[in-house]
Amino acid sequence: MFSSELRSRKREINSDNMSQIHFKLAGTAARLRQMSKRMKCFFLCLLFVSIFIYGNIFWYLMSGNHLTTDSYLETDKCPACYGHSMCRTLYDNRVKMTGWSTMRFFDMVNRKNVHYAHHAGGKRNIVLKKLGHDKELVDWDERICREAGRTAPCDVTRMVYRTNTAREISKIDLQPRHLKGLSFMFMCPTYRLIDYALKRYKEVVKPDLVLFRDKVQFVATAMMNSEPLLLQTFPASEGWPFPEYYGACGRFIAVSDEGRPLQEFYNSPFEKRADLAYQILKMADLLTTHHQDFVLYWTDLSYENLAVDSAGKVRIIDAEHIIVVDKKSISKVRPKGWDDLLESTFDDCGGKNCLNFNVDGLCSHTHSDHNYYAACRNLLSKFADESAQGMPGGLLHDMPKYARNDFDLEYLLNECTRPSSSQKRLHVKDDIINALDEIRNLKMEKDPKSGERES
Ligand SMILES: Nc1ncnc2c1ncn2[C@@H]1O[C@H](COP(=O)(O)OP(=O)(O)O)[C@@H](O)[C@H]1O
Ligand SMILES: [Mg+2]
Repeated sequence: MFSSELRSRKREINSDNMSQIHFKLAGTAARLRQMSKRMKCFFLCLLFVSIFIYGNIFWYLMSGNHLTTDSYLETDKCPACYGHSMCRTLYDNRVKMTGWSTMRFFDMVNRKNVHYAHHAGGKRNIVLKKLGHDKELVDWDERICREAGRTAPCDVTRMVYRTNTAREISKIDLQPRHLKGLSFMFMCPTYRLIDYALKRYKEVVKPDLVLFRDKVQFVATAMMNSEPLLLQTFPASEGWPFPEYYGACGRFIAVSDEGRPLQEFYNSPFEKRADLAYQILKMADLLTTHHQDFVLYWTDLSYENLAVDSAGKVRIIDAEHIIVVDKKSISKVRPKGWDDLLESTFDDCGGKNCLNFNVDGLCSHTHSDHNYYAACRNLLSKFADESAQGMPGGLLHDMPKYARNDFDLEYLLNECTRPSSSQKRLHVKDDIINALDEIRNLKMEKDPKSGERES
């Protein structure tokens, strides 16, 4: 009797509590419904910001420096990775993420997988890149599985040795056809290019010795993104306009932080933009003529793929889409028209900004004006229209009168993009370089309204 009374009393208390909760929830819901749209948005934003901040604090406190963990770096996937030359430095906690990158939460929105960090040893700011979006990295794994005859997901660490290419490398060594078309750097590979690249390849297990394992890793890297191979083969230390390559660890590479992307300079004073344009054209020259055997060609030239450092120097920060052509091999093989100048033909792409290129042509000619075409077409002239991104008219937009009249700059840029006669582009690019050099050095006062120089 006593226990059944107790049970019914408990039930009453429980149902009282439940009805109170129901009542309170209903009250809150009613109050929410009565709120204006603006207030609702405000509370929603507040909720997201709180989750974001607390989530980050929690994650940050729980995870420490994730650059010291193999699971984050994905070193367990090697040699289906970029290498390991940087691992010691990372494990020793000498590299720390900075800014947003310290927050693991941020990885969810960091689609490009680019992180900013500070290298205590080198006392430099560096950029850590995975060289692809998450989906592209998954595709990389799947491709390795497929080429090894396995269904994905598979153990890429083992399967990368079982692809047809890896089997052939073990038997007959690495050949141009194993790399052909895997990435832009190897659109037209030759033995000379492979030897040259392997000689400079830092990601080898034993210094000065390229083992079978290293070649498998080299090919796996080319399959995903040839940027680290290009940065090692044509290093900044030898005058190439790229970031310095510090090394790799698992599926990250570390390069020097080259500053702010070019688009941030779109509204800079004209003389500053003239200086940047000058450097871009000089870069086109350098890619074309710096090496006696190899030419490098731009195929993806855009504001976001160039950066300007604190000293005002421009560099190419995205080297994934650069084609390397072996001039010496071409002059030996002598395909038809090999020593004629290959002139890039203008394509207006329906009024959009685009860069057309002829891979077969570039791979079979020792001379081409393509890099100058790329610079004028995609960045400098009025055809480099990025209206969708709020950047119409090219980097040299709103040209002052003196530049147009005294230096003929607008005409020269149009001729560089769409030459009116054969071989003209090669002539006008020098005129543009000279004009820009003078303009960037102009220190005299200008009339801000007319843009004309004071006499
Ligand atoms: N070395 C670098 N220095 C400074 N910023 C960089 C560097 N590398 C990449 N970034 C930044 O990351 C962005 C994306 O890098 P990028 O290599 O171009 O990747 P994606 O191939 O996805 O375009 C760049 O637009 C730039 O803002
Ligand atoms: Mg890019």
